Amino acid sequence: MNYKVLVNKDNLVKDKYLDKIDLVEYFDILDNKILVEKQTLESYLELKKFLEEENIEIGISSAYRTLQDQQEIINEYTKKYGEDFEKKYVAPIRASEHHTGLALDIRIKENGKFIVEDKKVLKNIKPYQQIEKYFHKFGFILRYQEGKEDITGYSYEPWHIRYVGKVVAKIIYENNWTLEEYLTKFSGVLVINKKKGVTSFDVVNDISHIFGIKRVGHTGTLDPLAEGVLVVTIGKATKIAELLTAKYKEYIAGVQLGIKTDTYDIEGKVIDSKEVPDNLDLEKTISSYKKTYLQEVPIYSAVKVNGKKLYEYARNNESVELPKKEVTIKEIELLSKDKNEFMFKSLVSKGCYIRSLINDIGESLNTYATMTKLTRTKLGKFTLENSNTLDDIKNNNYKLYSIDNALDYPIVEIEDNLYKKISNGVKIKNTYNIEDKVIFKYNNTILGIYEKDEDMLKTWKNFN
Ligand code: DAL
Ligand code: ZN
Repeated sequence: MNYKVLVNKDNLVKDKYLDKIDLVEYFDILDNKILVEKQTLESYLELKKFLEEENIEIGISSAYRTLQDQQEIINEYTKKYGEDFEKKYVAPIRASEHHTGLALDIRIKENGKFIVEDKKVLKNIKPYQQIEKYFHKFGFILRYQEGKEDITGYSYEPWHIRYVGKVVAKIIYENNWTLEEYLTKFSGVLVINKKKGVTSFDVVNDISHIFGIKRVGHTGTLDPLAEGVLVVTIGKATKIAELLTAKYKEYIAGVQLGIKTDTYDIEGKVIDSKEVPDNLDLEKTISSYKKTYLQEVPIYSAVKVNGKKLYEYARNNESVELPKKEVTIKEIELLSKDKNEFMFKSLVSKGCYIRSLINDIGESLNTYATMTKLTRTKLGKFTLENSNTLDDIKNNNYKLYSIDNALDYPIVEIEDNLYKKISNGVKIKNTYNIEDKVIFKYNNTILGIYEKDEDMLKTWKNFN
């Protein structure tokens, strides 16, 4: 179920969506049976209960509507109030959010009764405005805000609330956005603590689902076996992904001595074993790896040779010469040792495979070594301590880095005269003494990232 579905005059609701809604029965203020989307009703009842404690009683005047229902409302409003009013307040068929079951028209009880008619509510909007601030806490947004008529296509409707879920409702409320604005403007960087057993791609899908945003990416893949820091980019922030793939990454790894697997990790097939020599000088061998060396890429990797991924060669039992890449182990430290197992921490350059490093250490120790556990503790400035689980995000307890916060480049708020040039990516003089890159903002919104080009600055990415 997509609770962030956009339904408006330009985005008509599709049958594919309508067929999947989970509708449940409820009652409107006149005690007529109505239908509401299941989660929407649950959240509405929480909102209702909360407001009751504030001595405010709310009810629903309209919820789910069939295409036929909407036609009847169009006819009724046109007849009663004229076409002008109807067009401002009633959506054409398939353009109404009410078809989704996620939209509710609410009423506040005053002097012991509910006012049913929208025209009368419009003359008395104060009580409605007093409860607007609570909607987001229950996952609702005020869908047709005042002053946003040109974006939503409708007049201000203080009664029409729309369920989008707590995460998105909070963002929309805090930014004073419409759903349309949220879906095009929302962007940022999340530092996720990936769980073991899921792919990096699963995390991207989950984030995409939670936020209702299609454009989500990640930097620095973590294998399913690995856990820890995964940096996820949302919306326009996907443009800076390559800048977030830090030069150095920190890992804590677990190792089992004496066995060799085809994948170099414990999830692979054991292909050989060897006795572990007594009196190993683990510490010394491990510190000897604090160096730059040519590391063989493991066969179970997505690195391509002659257009084919290495693991495909492995699966087809084809022989292939494994490429070697220069890697730097900047720091490496033994953390603990217990019989034939040990843990170590290392800070390694881009492209270094910890599984391969472990395999190499095994050879240096005259035995085999296989990775049993891997946790990424750092990727550039993003650390495990400052990461969030998917549950943190669902509970609205997370940190979102804006594009400029995620990067460490100087920020320049530009004057009107540069707006056109920078939006169009025109080269400008480097009057700011920029050494690498600079973020240009206009009205507190990122417009572009420029980079040094001799004594000029040229566009690197445009965000306009
Ligand atoms: N009143 C809103 C726009 C609808 O008819 O869906
Ligand atoms: Zn409505």
